[in-house]
Amino acid sequence: MTSIKKVFVTGAGAMGNGIVQVAADNGYEVKMYDLKQEFVDNGMQTIEGSLQRFVKREKKTEEEKKEIMGRITPTLDLNDASDADYIVEAVFENLGVKKELFGKLDEICGEATIFGSNTSSLPISAIATGTNRRDKIIGTHFMNPVPLMRGVEIIPGMETSDETLDITMDFIRSLGKEPNVARDYAGFVASRVLDVMLNEAVKCVMDGNKPADIDAIIKTCLNFPMGPCELIDLAGADILLHVLETMEEEYGDRYHPAPLLKQMVRAQHLGRKTGKGFYDYSK
Ligand SMILES: NC(=O)c1ccc[n+]([C@@H]2O[C@H](COP(=O)([O-])OP(=O)(O)OC[C@H]3O[C@@H](n4cnc5c(N)ncnc54)[C@H](O)[C@@H]3O)[C@@H](O)[C@H]2O)c1
Repeated sequence: MTSIKKVFVTGAGAMGNGIVQVAADNGYEVKMYDLKQEFVDNGMQTIEGSLQRFVKREKKTEEEKKEIMGRITPTLDLNDASDADYIVEAVFENLGVKKELFGKLDEICGEATIFGSNTSSLPISAIATGTNRRDKIIGTHFMNPVPLMRGVEIIPGMETSDETLDITMDFIRSLGKEPNVARDYAGFVASRVLDVMLNEAVKCVMDGNKPADIDAIIKTCLNFPMGPCELIDLAGADILLHVLETMEEEYGDRYHPAPLLKQMVRAQHLGRKTGKGFYDYSK
C-alpha cells in the first residue's frame, strides 16, 4: 500500500466504475462522483454485477464482495473530494470538460492531492493548464474492462514532477496493475497504435465485409483475443471517434475517421452502452 488512502473517481461510466471497483478491491476507500443519481446508481450496479461474477467463479467470497462494496461511497457532491489523496478523472473525452473539472477540484482538494486523468488521447500538459498544480497532474490510462486488463499507460505531462510519477507508479502497482510510461503526444502509445486498426476495420465494413467475418479473421489469423468490431462496441463508437479526431488534429489524415463511424455515432449506434453497434445487444 502506498501513502495514498482515499481515492476519488470522477465519472461513473464504463471506465470510472471499473477504476472504482479495482481501487476498492485493493483496500482503498473510494468515492465515485457523477452528475446524476441514475449515473452513480448504474455505476454501483455494474460493480456489484462484476463482483458477483467473481463470486460465481469462486474467485471471491460473498463476504469479500460485501466488504469491497462497503468501501465505495457514491456521491453527487464534488466537495466530497476535499479529503482525497488521489483523484482519477474518467469523464467525457473532451478537453474543455476535463479542464473545467480539474479547475474546480484544484480549489477543493488539498495541496498534496494528485490528479490522474484517464483520457485516451488528450495531451496531459493541456489538461494541466486548468489548474495551479501542473506538477501533480498525470495521465493514468486504464484499459477496458478495467477489472480484467493488466496494463495501465502512465503519461507525465511537461510539468509533471518525478515525485508525482513515482507515487503514481506505486499506486497503480498497488492496484495489481502493471504501469508503463508513454510520452505525452495525442493518443500516447496504446490508442495511437490500436485506433488505426479499428478505423481500418470500420472501412472494411464499408467495403462490404461483415463485422462477424472481420472479427473472426482477426481473432483466428492474428490471435487477437477480441475482434475490432467487438472492441469498438465495447469501448463505444463515440469514444473512438473523439480519439481519432484528436489524433487527426495532431498527426493528419491517417487518423481521419471512417464516414461509417461518424454515421454510427449520429445514429447513437454506440455499441453495448446503447444496445446497438456493429452487433445487436438489445436482447
Ligand atoms: N471506453 C473505453 O474503452 C475507454 C478506454 C480507456 C480510456 N477511456 C477514457 O475514459 C474516459 C471515460 O470514458 P468512458 O468510456 O467511461 O465514458 P462514459 O461515457 O461511459 O462515462 C463518462 C461519465 O462521465 C460523466 N461525466 C461527464 N461530465 C462529467 C463531469 N463534469 N463531472 C462528473 N461526471 C461527468 C458522465 O455522466 C458519464 O457517466 C474518457 O476520457 C475516455 O476517453 C475510455
